[in-house]
Amino acid sequence: YEGGRHDQRLDKIKDKEFSKGERDTSCETNTNNGKLILVDHPLVQHKVSIIRDKNTSVKEFRELVQEIAGLMAYETTRTLALEPIDVETPITRTVGKTLQGKKLAVVPVLRAGLGMVEGILRLIPNAKVGHVGLYRDPETLEPVEYYCKLPNDIQERDIFILDPMLATGGSAVAAIDLVKRQGGKKISLVNLIAAPEGVRRVHASHPEIDIYVAALDEKLNDHGYIVPGLGDAGDRLFGTK
Ligand code: URA
Repeated sequence: YEGGRHDQRLDKIKDKEFSKGERDTSCETNTNNGKLILVDHPLVQHKVSIIRDKNTSVKEFRELVQEIAGLMAYETTRTLALEPIDVETPITRTVGKTLQGKKLAVVPVLRAGLGMVEGILRLIPNAKVGHVGLYRDPETLEPVEYYCKLPNDIQERDIFILDPMLATGGSAVAAIDLVKRQGGKKISLVNLIAAPEGVRRVHASHPEIDIYVAALDEKLNDHGYIVPGLGDAGDRLFGTK
């Protein structure tokens, strides 16, 4: 991306600050200050370009989605709380740091969100995995809920809702609603590609949510697809079409 093109798109998201992989920690306690955070590491951008390519095979697409999700985890987990831990090295005793408390839950939105889970679990193998099942009604483009199973200690966990595409935002808002209804409190959304419309809709309904994206695209087309996007992420992950 050229910076200029990004800036134009970002101008459209007038009420939100866009943060390029950086967080304003002074705002962490402000519950109405959810951010859009672009994870624009060169490796991420490189891999996103490959998954956009319509000639990329299902196998490669799948592998790259996992890799991008894993690389994004570096940023999404940046503010996790740490606590001291005693460690005995071969040389001496010391105090290291360990993740505090109940840690994480990742919640893929079925089905395309599944494509991101393994990439994150490779880095955070003890994270619990919940599932939210939503599909988009092809006529209304509104989400319909058909499944929800979350860890029973969800209220104590940092929750990352996973969906490769943030399009209209309807599914994301419905997924966040569902997770909140089940007690989830510390929720972030992780998408590979977002449309400005989706970002606005999520922040209109859930202003405190941080949204992590690898790319912010131009717009939605008349069929609710992100432009330029990558097509239907579920179809490309699972080879259905
Ligand atoms: N879902 C997708 O998989 N792709 C889009 O472009 C929009 C929604």
